[in-house]
Amino acid sequence: MADQPGVAAMETGSLEFRGAEVDLVDERRESRETVGTPFVDDARMTCRDVNVHYGDNHAIKNVSLDIGREQVLAMIGPSGCGKSTFLRALNRMNDTIDGCRMTGEIKLDGNDIYAKDMDVVPLRALVGMVFQKPNPFPKSIFDNIAYGVRIHGLAESKSEIEGIVEHSLKRAGLWEEVNDRLRQPGTGLSGGQQQRLCIARTIAVSPEVILMDEPCSALDPIATARVEDLINELGADYTIAIVTHSMQQAARVSQRTAYFHLGDLLEVGPTDQIFTNPIHPLTEDYITGRFG
Ligand SMILES: Nc1ncnc2c1ncn2[C@@H]1O[C@H](COP(=O)(O)OP(=O)(O)OP(=O)(O)O)[C@@H](O)[C@H]1O
Ligand SMILES: [Mg+2]
Repeated sequence: MADQPGVAAMETGSLEFRGAEVDLVDERRESRETVGTPFVDDARMTCRDVNVHYGDNHAIKNVSLDIGREQVLAMIGPSGCGKSTFLRALNRMNDTIDGCRMTGEIKLDGNDIYAKDMDVVPLRALVGMVFQKPNPFPKSIFDNIAYGVRIHGLAESKSEIEGIVEHSLKRAGLWEEVNDRLRQPGTGLSGGQQQRLCIARTIAVSPEVILMDEPCSALDPIATARVEDLINELGADYTIAIVTHSMQQAARVSQRTAYFHLGDLLEVGPTDQIFTNPIHPLTEDYITGRFG
């Protein structure tokens, strides 16, 4: 206890000093500057001064953040703080929302994804997305995966497509469960299987980055564990950004964590440090359950 400055001040009776300490904490609590380590040496995506508005609602405020190569970045924060909005900015999914405006710069491997000549169709294959609720196409298991491969022209022959389907299902840990029923509808699978099918579909078009927005929130604990194992495996080869409400999940799957608060990015750091020794008082409030 005595190694905390405020407590030490109390013990030595230095009330003046204690007052200064309280002011300092309040100042840090009021600050909306990002603290910690938002930037990395080996970034796959770089985001600078990103702002997103929905009409008058300023949903993302001046966010600057790197997403490291072959790493899993978790994004946490209270409901409505802008996690999904920021995630959608990373593959221009917000473009489809009326009244949504974005400023700032986001680059993938040094290329501005908001450049005028950027084609968003291949971009969304390069930066693939897995949603909260599994959303297989109303097609067979095989065609759920083959569809993107065909429209992006990623295979020249039937056997090449079959190879990609098999490889993607294996990577997503689903092959053993479905290889005898590839022609049956994807919607006939269990929720956890459907989510792994959606992950296989994302992998099939050779993404550089995979975005996941609460991918386990509709799954039971066993299916969640399967998907978390998969994220851990995929993190070795892919760059992954995952939004989660579960701090345990963030701790299990990510190396870095970003804490968002009412549109501001307040803190970024190594996951274990964010959960054991956060810098920003509001991060601490959130992880200890005092806020959100
Ligand atoms: N399609 C939209 N149109 C208008 N406003 C939106 C839209 N999507 C989000 N917003 C607003 O932007 C802000 C951030 O929302 P967002 O969905 O990004 O938060 P979130 O952190 O993902 O929340 P949750 O944890 O509940 O999913 C909120 O004020 C929300 O009302
Ligand atoms: Mg959300």
